[in-house]
Amino acid sequence: MKQLKYLKILNFAKTTLEDYNNWGETEVYKASQELPNNKAILEEQQKTFTVKPLNAKEQLDILRQQVKDCKGCPLCKTRLNAVFGEGFENADLMFVGEGPGYDEDHKGEPFIGKAGQLLTKIIEAMGQTRDTVYIANIVKCHPMIDPSSPEKRENDRPPTPSEMQVCKRYLDMQIDIIKPKIIVTLGASSTKCLLNSEESISRIRGAVQKYNGFKLVPTYHPAALLRNPGLKKFVWEDMKKVIHFLSTGEI
Ligand code: SF4
Ligand code: URA
Repeated sequence: MKQLKYLKILNFAKTTLEDYNNWGETEVYKASQELPNNKAILEEQQKTFTVKPLNAKEQLDILRQQVKDCKGCPLCKTRLNAVFGEGFENADLMFVGEGPGYDEDHKGEPFIGKAGQLLTKIIEAMGQTRDTVYIANIVKCHPMIDPSSPEKRENDRPPTPSEMQVCKRYLDMQIDIIKPKIIVTLGASSTKCLLNSEESISRIRGAVQKYNGFKLVPTYHPAALLRNPGLKKFVWEDMKKVIHFLSTGEI
């Protein structure tokens, strides 16, 4: 709109100068020839007026601030820290857990407790690091069995369907900004929430799904592997599929 207006003004100026010339007033017209041409002026204008679109990191920073201030559900009242997510803003691979636990609530970072340390090992076994992937949760604040005691250990619970439904909008925006080639949901909660499926995690794991047009592979939650190490081989099977897809584009 601005450009169009500017062009109209330039054209008007040009015809006026040509009129001057036709009337015999050549000095002004000659001087106008020294001016930069329309294109150069327009390019200069564009540099001044065009608003640069925000890059992925800038968009995530804005969203992180919104999550920090969010009062969208009652979990805001008891959180110590909102846990937004972390990693590479243009990651090909994104992990989605259910929600922060005690350690994550205390530090404001996802997956840093015992289950998180196992997830870090899985990521490294895949030839990646926590900095080359993106790690997030469905809910950003710590769901507690006893919300009056955020300092208490063994006080974690899975998020309720309504907490997940409210908070999921932030995850959807994160996915939209990061545009991963593939999402791995960790455990039954995040899988059910994103896929709206009643299928058990033992049946659906490893099977490629779609979420908002993004490829998604469900697998077991690392906390389940800590309780039952026999499940590790299944997670590795699923992750090999993901590695193959990331290197060949085929799944
Ligand atoms: Fe907001 Fe999500 Fe935290 Fe609820 S869990 S307060 S919706 S950021
Ligand atoms: N479990 C999760 O689902 N997410 C975390 O961030 C930590 C533990």
